Amino acid sequence: MIYFKSNIFIIGLLCHILQLKSYGLIAPNVELQTQKGTIYGRQTQSSIEYLGQDEQCLYLNIFTPINVSNQSLLPVLVWIHGGALQTGCSSQGIPTIYNGTNIIVNSLQPAIIVTINYRLGVLADLYLPALVEENSPDQPTAGNYYYLDMLSALRWVNKNIRDYDGNPKNVLLFGDSSGASAVVDIGALKGSANLYQHIISESGGAGHYIYYSNVSDAIQISNKIVQNMNCTRENNALILACLRNSSIKYLIAAFGRRLAKSIIDGYFFPYHPLLAIKNGLYNPNITMIIGNNEQEPLMCLENPDMNSTEAISVLSQTMPIQWLPLTVNNYQLHSCSSNRNARNRCCDVARLLIIDQLFDCNVQRIYNNLYMKYQQSHKLYCYHLDCNPGICPELSVEEGAGVCSHVDEIPFVFGIVSSYNSMNTHNCTWDSQTRSFSNQIIFTLDQYGSK
Ligand SMILES: *[C@@H]1O[C@H](CO)[C@@H](O)[C@H](O)[C@H]1NC(C)=O
Ligand SMILES: *[C@@H]1O[C@H](CO)[C@@H](O)[C@H](O)[C@H]1NC(C)=O
Ligand SMILES: *[C@@H]1O[C@H](CO)[C@@H](O)[C@H](O)[C@H]1NC(C)=O
Ligand SMILES: *[C@@H]1O[C@H](CO)[C@@H](O)[C@H](O)[C@H]1NC(C)=O
Ligand SMILES: *[C@@H]1O[C@H](CO)[C@@H](O)[C@H](O)[C@H]1NC(C)=O
Ligand SMILES: *[C@@H]1O[C@H](CO)[C@@H](O)[C@H](O)[C@H]1NC(C)=O
Ligand SMILES: *[C@@H]1O[C@H](CO)[C@@H](O)[C@H](O)[C@H]1NC(C)=O
Ligand SMILES: *[C@@H]1O[C@H](CO)[C@@H](O)[C@H](O)[C@H]1NC(C)=O
Ligand SMILES: *[C@@H]1O[C@H](CO)[C@@H](O)[C@H](O)[C@H]1NC(C)=O
Repeated sequence: MIYFKSNIFIIGLLCHILQLKSYGLIAPNVELQTQKGTIYGRQTQSSIEYLGQDEQCLYLNIFTPINVSNQSLLPVLVWIHGGALQTGCSSQGIPTIYNGTNIIVNSLQPAIIVTINYRLGVLADLYLPALVEENSPDQPTAGNYYYLDMLSALRWVNKNIRDYDGNPKNVLLFGDSSGASAVVDIGALKGSANLYQHIISESGGAGHYIYYSNVSDAIQISNKIVQNMNCTRENNALILACLRNSSIKYLIAAFGRRLAKSIIDGYFFPYHPLLAIKNGLYNPNITMIIGNNEQEPLMCLENPDMNSTEAISVLSQTMPIQWLPLTVNNYQLHSCSSNRNARNRCCDVARLLIIDQLFDCNVQRIYNNLYMKYQQSHKLYCYHLDCNPGICPELSVEEGAGVCSHVDEIPFVFGIVSSYNSMNTHNCTWDSQTRSFSNQIIFTLDQYGSK
């Protein structure tokens, strides 16, 4: 057991595209055979899987082209998966969603794809005085193990990727959802500069205050978990011994269903990314693509008959109570309609508001702050994707057919037919239009990464 330690190990393994070996799943004990290689661990059918987590998850996958007829080192694309910092892994899904093979096959510019794992939820989140004390005095912090793991992976890439013909000076981080926040946040982390040069932040709301906590809040919440675990003891060593003697299943239960947050700790993560940018303490040399999807929340699909009361209640879960009356007034939520044919449908108003609040405004703020700081010296791009997917298996209108919602860009980025939530994609194919749209995205991403 190494619960909550920041000393990191990462194992990298070569994966040729036609002889893929995939490592690094949530629980490394069960073996699954695949056609082309061995996948260790249990693949998660559902992308929303809380149980079965393990700390021994710090693996990364490397996808390299078989034929590199070129002496120059290749660009390296590092994928950071989403899942609200609580779920997901690099080998997620059957078939594997984050499969770098198709990017390599469909891109003109040869590249190396790396997908990484990092610790999640309660195993990454605890900020306890006991843990701070356990560190050496020059590392007066705890928590943020998600981000420490990501940095470790990047350090590994920096040190070793040359052995795989990758260029450690041309590293692109790309990620979706909480991974999209991560690729933005990493620029504000101590020790992150020089480990990467480009980011693509997809379908995320990096910078939104709900994803960050301060030390006092983090300690309070972590202490609550100690209490829930019945691990309150007379000294720090005993508290940690008790936690480390507990099963992960109970730790996850004690964490509960709440947002996992990164901690602005004044040390490893000294400033919120916007403040870091403003104060010139952000990675000064990155280029960026940041954006999200046309219809991030599926509000009208989930609740087409939403009434005013429900709309206000949905909103109240996304903002502090003191801002609610003003917002409700400005957007005239009291007079929105539950009628499906109305122009001011409640579900639509709520949807647009939430897109602004959780996605668009944050993306704009990050973009604007970087732009104001660096002007033309950085390449900065913003996008809105309307992917209108021929996602497979075909969805009904109720399930979201034709709607480009949260993380729907993933199949296009990875050139895979399965959607994030697909269970059965064995009989799927894309029509040629959808395929060429995906190839276009891969081409753009790849060209950008190689600059
Ligand atoms: C690799 O190169 C060989 C020789 O040029 C060629 O026959 C083969 O098709 C190539 N394989 C791939 C996957 O591009
Ligand atoms: C060789 O590398 C250069 C620079 O990275 C790239 O522009 C070119 O497309 C590569 N050529 C081949 C055949 O891979
Ligand atoms: C990745 O995609 C390739 C090409 O579609 C496929 O051959 C391979 O089996 C996939 N790997 C995994 C682990 O799903
Ligand atoms: C940023 O780029 C400049 C010029 O290429 C270089 O001199 C400087 O060391 C870089 N800084 C960091 C933190 O990477
Ligand atoms: C920490 O954040 C909370 C809001 O979540 C705030 O009420 C509190 O004042 C903050 N504490 C410090 C010390 O800044
Ligand atoms: C903690 O103690 C309470 C009361 O004895 C018990 O109900 C609960 O299951 C215990 N929790 C754990 C995680 O052991
Ligand atoms: C560890 O747990 C076992 C039972 O789950 C218990 O018997 C033992 O006393 C515990 N040890 C510590 C140090 O808490
Ligand atoms: C709004 O919808 C909820 C859930 O369907 C229902 O319980 C409530 O009575 C409705 N409120 C109004 C004012 O129609
Ligand atoms: C594929 O489609 C065929 C014919 O529609 C069906 O019989 C078969 O069960 C499907 N296979 C899978 C794995 O879904």
